[in-house]
Amino acid sequence: MKIDILTLFPESFSYLNSSILKRAQENNIIEINLIDIRNFSKDKHKKCDDYPFGGGAGMLMSVQPIYDALKSVQKENSKIIFPSPSGEKFNANIAKNLSTYDHLIFICGHYEGIDQRVIDIFNPQEISIGDYVLTGGELASMVIIDSLSRFVTGVISKESLEEESFSSGKLEYPQYTRPAQFMGLKVPDVLLSGNHEEIAKWREKKSIEKTKNIRPDLFNN
Ligand code: ADE
Repeated sequence: MKIDILTLFPESFSYLNSSILKRAQENNIIEINLIDIRNFSKDKHKKCDDYPFGGGAGMLMSVQPIYDALKSVQKENSKIIFPSPSGEKFNANIAKNLSTYDHLIFICGHYEGIDQRVIDIFNPQEISIGDYVLTGGELASMVIIDSLSRFVTGVISKESLEEESFSSGKLEYPQYTRPAQFMGLKVPDVLLSGNHEEIAKWREKKSIEKTKNIRPDLFNN
């Protein structure tokens, strides 16, 4: 999978070059390219923002630099995503769906937003990562990319995907590793028993308890 990220702040994406996503790129499973929108500005000062018509607070990202940056990478099969607080709410199903595309393009807005004509021309999927407003789309893009990458074959093991939160519609059960006792806190006996059937039952029970306590809405959906 190839992912192109259009941004005014390419330096903010170093997280994508660590840990699991770093390995996925080294193994050529995912290719991530950062495209600096400023390089496409036709303004003599490389300006990429301007005041909103009709007035209002702050600045908007202009259409021309984004249009040219996008056209430089867009192909016939490209799926375009615009992270925005006014998009549909992100979840694991959307991540899974996005993981099936060969080419994703992310447009990172900044300041007060972007010129509506970017959306009218390219019709991106608008995705919100939650009901709060970030200073830009960079963090939201990273959240979406990190999450969808886990569904791309070869990035993490199949077992990890199947066992985790949301794959079963429930939250994940508590997990423990060595030592079996720490500051008087003991790992539940069943997990040390070697009885896989009992372990599976215990995990299912804990998973249900946790979901009921923390996210009862998951049972209603
Ligand atoms: N950009 C700013 N806030 C955002 C949010 N909540 N989700 C996605 N993109 C955003």
